[in-house]
Amino acid sequence: MMVLMMILHSFRIYLTGGFKKPRELTWISGVILAVLTVSFGVTGYSLPWDQVGYWAVKIVTGVPEAIPLVGNSLVELLRGGSSVGQATLTRFYSLHTFVLPLLTTVFMLMHFLMIRKQGISDLSNLELRAKLAKGMGHNYYGEPAWPNDLLYVFPVVILATISCCIGLAIMEPSSIGEKADPFATPLEILPEWYLYPTFNLLRVIPNKLLGILSISLIPVGLILVPFIENINKFQNPFRRPIATTIFLIGTIIAIWLGIGATLPIDKAITLGLF
Ligand code: HEM
Repeated sequence: MMVLMMILHSFRIYLTGGFKKPRELTWISGVILAVLTVSFGVTGYSLPWDQVGYWAVKIVTGVPEAIPLVGNSLVELLRGGSSVGQATLTRFYSLHTFVLPLLTTVFMLMHFLMIRKQGISDLSNLELRAKLAKGMGHNYYGEPAWPNDLLYVFPVVILATISCCIGLAIMEPSSIGEKADPFATPLEILPEWYLYPTFNLLRVIPNKLLGILSISLIPVGLILVPFIENINKFQNPFRRPIATTIFLIGTIIAIWLGIGATLPIDKAITLGLF
């Protein structure tokens, strides 16, 4: 749910040009939050230590192997040894419950402080609305944090999130799967849905190093977005046709690759359509 909300939030920021000057750092802290959120997913996936969790860790921690010179050391660092075992689980558990929450708190604080300092949309401001209507201008946040955010918005959002989590846990309870067996490779291991596109990329790119490079380019490309897009002063997506086209094509490619991940390797790119 956190990943879904984050994706929707990033879409809104991208399409409304919310990252434009002077909000480049807010965007960069957002990209770091996105990487941290996905890392929560990856480390958490292993914690039940069932067959799926165990093999997912084995695959994930084996990915850096293809990096020249430091690859093997990285794999050992992640696994806490040469193979996946008790030390790996302890590492993933500490990352999931201590390191990642701590880093996320720090970057969320940065994110929020910058938003409070620079402001977000205040569409009741007529002057700004006129500017935004022309596709220009930056948003302004006019409300004090207390009581508006802290007393009214936060409790509603927090309680609604807890309710959704409880509701989902009751309607769709997740259980521990088959016991992990290092000697029995499961026929099919799929990561969480939001990793389908990258998983498929790694599957279809024959050179592992090239696969890792193409995946690393995703956060790097995202960090560069505000600096490239600042040449266009408009925020309105209709006045930023190149940015909007890239967004649409990127989303279609991600969905396409995501569907491909659920199909056998020979249909991973064509989806069996041609
Ligand atoms: C844990 C994840 C995140 C949380 C909790 C979070 C929270 C927020 C909140 C509460 C706001 C102000 C309200 C709004 O504009 O919607 C905001 C604004 C913003 N966020 Fe995030 N965010 C997260 C991830 C991201 C990501 C992944 C990006 C981009 C890659 C991003 C970029 C921005 C930017 C640029 C703004 C300022 C928008 C403006 O001023 O119009 N955030 N964020």
